[in-house]
Amino acid sequence: MLRTLRSVLRFRRLERDAVARRLSRAASVEDLRRIARRRLPGGVFDYIDGAAEDELTAGRNTAAFRTLEFRPRVLRDVAEIRTDTTLLGRPLPLPLVLAPTGFSRIADPQGELAVARAAARADLPYTLSTLSTRSIEEVAAVSTGRRWFQVYVWRDRGLVREMLERAAATGYEAIVITVDTAVLGRRERDVRRGFTLPPKLGLDTLIDGALHPGWTWSFLRADPIAFANVVGRSVGDGSDPVSLADYINTQFDPALSWDDIAWFRSHWDGPIVLKGVQSVADARRAADAGVEAIALSNHGGRQLDGAPPPLELVAPVAEAVGDRVEILCDGGIRRGSDIVKAVALGARACMTGRAYLYGLAAGGERGVDWVIDHLREGTRRTMGLVGASDVAELTPELVRWRDGERR
Ligand code: GLV
Repeated sequence: MLRTLRSVLRFRRLERDAVARRLSRAASVEDLRRIARRRLPGGVFDYIDGAAEDELTAGRNTAAFRTLEFRPRVLRDVAEIRTDTTLLGRPLPLPLVLAPTGFSRIADPQGELAVARAAARADLPYTLSTLSTRSIEEVAAVSTGRRWFQVYVWRDRGLVREMLERAAATGYEAIVITVDTAVLGRRERDVRRGFTLPPKLGLDTLIDGALHPGWTWSFLRADPIAFANVVGRSVGDGSDPVSLADYINTQFDPALSWDDIAWFRSHWDGPIVLKGVQSVADARRAADAGVEAIALSNHGGRQLDGAPPPLELVAPVAEAVGDRVEILCDGGIRRGSDIVKAVALGARACMTGRAYLYGLAAGGERGVDWVIDHLREGTRRTMGLVGASDVAELTPELVRWRDGERR
């Protein structure tokens, strides 16, 4: 009996390192999200996880991936699977770009530095947000990988021009102009909590902080969180806690229009990506304006509640402009199979933001590595299961909408 028992009993080796232990228990990005929820103060988790108003669009973004199913092929020799493609004329090992996310240091003290390093290790572009908590130069100093710079357009164009110059001087490859943020969407979780950036320590946040001592300890030990790209500027350097709505609605230019693309062209020599395109008509307009790529995106459902899921736009946009402009798609990428679906419909690559932030909150830089590995392995496995050994074989015939609707 003892022999039988010994042959079936297998204890996992006790992992001494707390981060490794935590990550080893996770099997999906959703697991990391649950860990992040446990570790972060409620206001911080809700800022990352939340979306606009009733969060309908955020829910539909992820639901769209579930509504699209595969039509797998068999007996296609998938002994060797190649996930590599090209993007903006350069090789890319996996159709994935790390999306810009503001204030990454609220998830982990290393913030954007951790994400940039993890992206560089995986040879994937990392997009630094204008509203980052590490500066253009600090990120450049830790990553020689592909770096893109996301631009919000301040009313003060001199400031924007300076940032473009700083990005060019430090080797950023492309700019990503976010065009879905003329005004800020109403994120009601943030409204309810009175969430500010940097997070302020009031009585409720003190209680919340005490319940999340790991986060609070590292938050208090690290340098104060600030809008790193504009520190010391009169435009609002983020040293006083401010709600994102107040900040954006006072600092950013709601008059931004198609005419401004030419202004960007005259101040930026590299590729331009327009992020936040949400219709075939605007995709055509972007192609006419000559941008190199568009990101079909509704800002993860954080802006206009009721906007269409990006995945539903991929095929019609690819049909309209796919030969003139590269198409990126975001909005709920949590698995490699999501990437395969978007690429099959006509996207060149996907972007993801929340997925890596959950990883960052759950396990710091190693959590970001975990998410990238998970998406890479998921992409490879899904390609094997649908019978595609090369990204070029990911075509619309491999997928169909379950509800039979033509999109
Ligand atoms: C910032 O861009 C945000 O969506 O919170």
